[in-house]
Amino acid sequence: MSQIDCDTKDEVINPQELTSCKVVDYMKLVDKFGCHIIDNTLLEKFEKVTGKKAHVWLKRNIYFSHQDLDTLLDLVADGKEIFIYTGRGPSSNSMHIGHLVPFMFAKYLQDAFNAIVIIQMSDDEKYYARDSVSLDECNKLAYENAKDIIACGFNPLKTFIFSNLETVGGSLFRNIVHLMKTTTGNQIKGAYGLNLSNPIGQITWPMFQIAPAFSSSFENIFHKKNVTALIPMGIDQAVYFRTARDFADKMKYPKPATIHSKFLPGLEGINTKMSSTSTNANSVIFLSDNAVTIKKKIGLSFSGGKNTLIEHRLLGADLSVDVAYQYLTYFLEDDDKFQQITTDYSSGIMTSGQIKQILVDLLVELVNTHKKNRDLIDAIVLRQFFDMTKNDL
Ligand code: TYM
Repeated sequence: MSQIDCDTKDEVINPQELTSCKVVDYMKLVDKFGCHIIDNTLLEKFEKVTGKKAHVWLKRNIYFSHQDLDTLLDLVADGKEIFIYTGRGPSSNSMHIGHLVPFMFAKYLQDAFNAIVIIQMSDDEKYYARDSVSLDECNKLAYENAKDIIACGFNPLKTFIFSNLETVGGSLFRNIVHLMKTTTGNQIKGAYGLNLSNPIGQITWPMFQIAPAFSSSFENIFHKKNVTALIPMGIDQAVYFRTARDFADKMKYPKPATIHSKFLPGLEGINTKMSSTSTNANSVIFLSDNAVTIKKKIGLSFSGGKNTLIEHRLLGADLSVDVAYQYLTYFLEDDDKFQQITTDYSSGIMTSGQIKQILVDLLVELVNTHKKNRDLIDAIVLRQFFDMTKNDL
């Protein structure tokens, strides 16, 4: 797909286009998607209502935008139950470290709100979108990726993961039917950039991603309760939940609240999105990569350091384009250490090589811990997460 200039595009940007933007201007997206910036007042309210410190990704503006998070916090303050909904389109055997952003955050939200989490594995979505992979393979990848998701630490008693291919039916399908009845082809064309030459499966897909945002889709879990969803996601998925919120109005369902993150960039440059289908294997760190591979890939990443040491000591690094430094904003939790690195690297005291080494050490530890957790997930554990009845909830 050729790169587009998202800045000059007037209409809403669809998920495929967002991945190929030359430069993602997050503030403009907030306007285009009708969202709101997460400010300090909202973070204070979050901490007060949940009794938990705001996640470092909230404090560092990585989760930067929302719809109705404040209203959802009012519900929680009134003692109402909420649930978390998110998902993954399984397109590779192993997930990458960018995918940790929504799932580690969903686990944090599960703890903060003591909430049920619902995770859709959209194996059918990926089958429609790709010619080279069979439906069975997509379904298999859903289970492989579910292991990566479970390894983030979700509570098995309060988490339901489902393969869309295997699950759609019952109350979930009722809502999909309502969505199909109330959404026109022209709406799909406008919002999702699809047309009549796309497979019909792709054209109808938004209905399948939207329906789980409503508790009435999961009668077995929520019974007849009207529970509001909070949906964490990368900003590329925001368009789905604009449609979901309009649908909620029509059906008098609780309007889902959303919370959006920026993209963890690919290693080749700050204005890209790490993507498992990238043609450049060196731009992605998979959760299955070993220490040697991680070191090699980080070593090749785009640096904001200067060309010579003399110049670097004099002028310091350009942090805004330095991929390794930007990754530290995601993965180095210690605020004091992070501040010191910011000062020392921007002034030239620290070199690009030192920054990269700090990142390698952090990521190797993160990936190794993840692998250890993943190795504990056997068929019994998987079955527990995929159990629709969830009698213990
Ligand atoms: P998918 O599989 O492309 O991505 C899964 C989730 O990961 C986020 N993400 C990223 N976040 C930060 N940095 C990155 N580099 C990065 N790459 C991916 C995505 O924004 C997404 O939140 N259609 C969806 C699957 C889905 C879903 C949902 C997502 C089904 N139901 C409900 C969110 C909410 C997809 O293909 O995501």
